[in-house]
Amino acid sequence: MAAACDTANRMETDPRDGALITALAAKVGTPFWLYDAGRIERQIERLRGFDTIRYAQKANSNLDLLRIMRRNGVKIDAVSNGEITRALTAGYAAGGDDLVFTADIFDRATLERVAALGIPVNCGSPDMIDQIASISPGHRIWLRINPGFGHGHSNKTNTGGPFSKHGIWHEQLPELGPRIEAAGLDLVGLHMHIGSGVDYEHLERVGDAMIDAYRALGLPVRAVSAGGGLSVPYRDGGSEIDTAHYIEKWNSARLAIQQHQSAPVEMEIEPGRFLVAAAGCLVAEVRAVKRVAERFFVVVDAGFNDLARPAMYGSYHRIGFVDAQGAQVGGALHPVAVAGPLCESGDVFTQGEGGVVEFRDMPLPKVGDFCVFADAGAYGAAMSSNYNSRPLIPEVVIDGDRLRLARRRQTMDELLALETGEDLMLDSVAAERERRA
Ligand code: LLP
Repeated sequence: MAAACDTANRMETDPRDGALITALAAKVGTPFWLYDAGRIERQIERLRGFDTIRYAQKANSNLDLLRIMRRNGVKIDAVSNGEITRALTAGYAAGGDDLVFTADIFDRATLERVAALGIPVNCGSPDMIDQIASISPGHRIWLRINPGFGHGHSNKTNTGGPFSKHGIWHEQLPELGPRIEAAGLDLVGLHMHIGSGVDYEHLERVGDAMIDAYRALGLPVRAVSAGGGLSVPYRDGGSEIDTAHYIEKWNSARLAIQQHQSAPVEMEIEPGRFLVAAAGCLVAEVRAVKRVAERFFVVVDAGFNDLARPAMYGSYHRIGFVDAQGAQVGGALHPVAVAGPLCESGDVFTQGEGGVVEFRDMPLPKVGDFCVFADAGAYGAAMSSNYNSRPLIPEVVIDGDRLRLARRRQTMDELLALETGEDLMLDSVAAERERRA
């Protein structure tokens, strides 16, 4: 049963997965997310060549997954105050190097919290360096560097180069070295994340850029981080990244820096997608099969409020159908687009960048069958919203022969409870303005 959400395709070879999906649909209702802990653990093993694997929890921050990471010795990255709370709740400690806060700014509450708890901070702007120095002398920091180039599966996931808001611009490093020393901050390391869904050629350039950045800064470091960004094959026939080759490339950058300063340098990686994408799928129910002109729309009960990636980036997810008995739906192929229930024409899971609806050759399911979106473990549940007043959906984890409800379905009452309409007790906006004048 552990293979249930490896990919929609796997269901062709393992009929037990279809049976599990129908059983779970009866138990928790549709739509729901399904994750496979074993698959996550196999991905972790592929990166053991790094001294530290630090999970970028933005990809999927469900506590159950964070606990799986922790029991496997994977450390954690947080990009918000909320993600810090999640990491601490999952059992990560604040004071050591379990947890690093990475961002381009501090909001006021987060600045105070990382200072109070001694959480190392990966600074993505010179302002962050100054702000943490002013309230927490000797604080441990990393520098997130924009090396002047970037890459990603979409323009929206490219995080380097002159059009990126992320990181410290590499040309500023020579002036920052003395500033960090003068402020008495404790520099842990340098970090470069050039984008998400990056191809090999670009990833390889980062090692050399790291050596240049180290030289430009002119301070000793204890660690370097390759950031995240490792791609996964979303399409049939897509190739898996050669992790051994990637680790080797990074190791040479690490060794060059180590040799230069005659002090040890550790090597970190900060993946999100690579660890969890293929371990998760989204299961929905087919609610309508419509003929439109010469083609078909299969409309399911999950929308882009659940899985936003196709609508946001034109991302491709493999899709399979399972009937109520758990068997893979077969038969003649037709041009099919798969869409959701939202009152918006962009709510289509088969679309290219720019929102062009794409039809795939697929067998036709019938109402009541299940629709499985593969490789949805990363940036699936994490990017869901309540658009159209649709509550967040359940998350289920398969862990060995156990099944856990990692998150129950949100209720409408919980949503409405936020909308209290309480009186803010300002005499009036005009009086308040006068008081401030
Ligand atoms: N480290 C930093 C500083 C990041 O900004 C990110 C991703 C990661 C690590 C993890 O990247 P990964 O290994 O998952 O590629 N919503 C988009 C992806 C946005 C990624 C944002 N930052 C998607 O669905 O493809």
